[in-house]
Amino acid sequence: MSGKEEAKVDENGEEVEETYCIDPICKVPSAKRPRPAPPGARVQETADILGPDSQHAYVQKWVKMEEEEKNGNVKFDVVRNDGPNCSREQLVRLLGLKNVFVKQLPNMPKPYVTRLVFDRKHESLALLKRGTDGDYIVMGGCCYRPFPKQGFGEIAFLAISHSEQVRGYGTRLMAQTKERAKSLGLTVLLTCADNNAVPYFKKQGFSKKITLPLNMWQGYIKDYEGVTLMECKLHKKVNYLRIPAMLKAQKICLVEKLKEVSNSHIVYPGIDARKRKGIDVMSIPGLSDIYPSKDPPSDLKTKVKPPSIANKDPEAQAELKQHLQNVLNQVKSHNAAWPFIEPVDPQKTGAVDYYEVIKNPIDLKTIQDRLDIGWYYITKDIFIADVRRMVENCYHYNGKHHYVSELGGQLEKFFMHKI
Ligand code: ACO
Repeated sequence: MSGKEEAKVDENGEEVEETYCIDPICKVPSAKRPRPAPPGARVQETADILGPDSQHAYVQKWVKMEEEEKNGNVKFDVVRNDGPNCSREQLVRLLGLKNVFVKQLPNMPKPYVTRLVFDRKHESLALLKRGTDGDYIVMGGCCYRPFPKQGFGEIAFLAISHSEQVRGYGTRLMAQTKERAKSLGLTVLLTCADNNAVPYFKKQGFSKKITLPLNMWQGYIKDYEGVTLMECKLHKKVNYLRIPAMLKAQKICLVEKLKEVSNSHIVYPGIDARKRKGIDVMSIPGLSDIYPSKDPPSDLKTKVKPPSIANKDPEAQAELKQHLQNVLNQVKSHNAAWPFIEPVDPQKTGAVDYYEVIKNPIDLKTIQDRLDIGWYYITKDIFIADVRRMVENCYHYNGKHHYVSELGGQLEKFFMHKI
């Protein structure tokens, strides 16, 4: 579809809007007039440009959650105290919710939690997991009070059982709560978040900026010491249970728009790397399409020279290898080197999604192996690129301010000084 050069027209000559259908809810128009590929080049498919969905850890978590819901191992049910009509099952679930909240929110007085969970103006969304006996057990939940007249809901308590935390259930529970709130006609969720839960709420789209007019909520919601009032706007058009599909649709939209205004989807054949004497810059496939006047900027008029390749000269190669080995020995014995000595072991380190996030892993042992081969590091630049990638991977996975990243930074500085 992405390779088309002309917009499609129907039998009346009207333009037909082609769409990518990645999900029943997301139809994305494809590029109307994508820039065509010149002879010899090809158009890269949108799916190729985006890469596999599985490379994103959040998508994997989401898919796992959806599967668990599909096969009935997990479900989310609305539970409330219907007074005399309340079934035994509902009461058991309300009790289960109260127990999770009391355990996970130890600063909240037990009678207060019990009162709100059983209060008939409140309702809860319970996260239920099927136990080995087939019965559902409350593993978490969100207790809220809808204020339909003012169009907002107040989340009173939200918690996941300790054994199930940080596995994505909190995100899914919030998505379910948002969809429930939308179905009740609410457009805003407010909560007084425990200060240590503020980062979680931020990730769920809550902000400290309250846009709901004061007179709509003041006096209605509960306020405590040591909490932060946060707000999340609910958008009618967003299906909070299909966020990855929506993000993918947006990415496809962007790629398709780019195809109309740039050549980034056009792939030219590669350059023959065996040419040792350098090549004329303008002979690089694609450049003459950018500078059709044959008058490229002056800095492109020179020839591209291949890097000086040491293995043309066995003596120079041996000298380079010796130097790289000396530097590598010093790097390996540096105090900051310990996280980089061996390939990352996801089980031992707890970085279970490491190889999903880091697509080009590298470590000092692998660098040593490459150096031992003899022909791998034919230039110093290739060696430097590997060490730098090792540190870049660390920043990417852990974030720049993580203590392991700080060690990586120290090691790179030391390395660059020695090399
Ligand atoms: N601090 C920083 N980040 C957090 C926290 C936290 N306390 N809790 C979760 N996150 C992050 C996760 O790392 C994850 O980040 P990622 O998407 O980048 O990987 C993201 O938030 C979502 O994590 P989930 O696995 O979906 O959340 P989880 O299942 O752990 O549930 C919850 C989060 C409900 C806060 C749970 O940790 C919990 O029950 N905590 C104890 C009770 C609590 O504090 N409740 C909120 C009190 S405020 C109130 O009730 C109004």
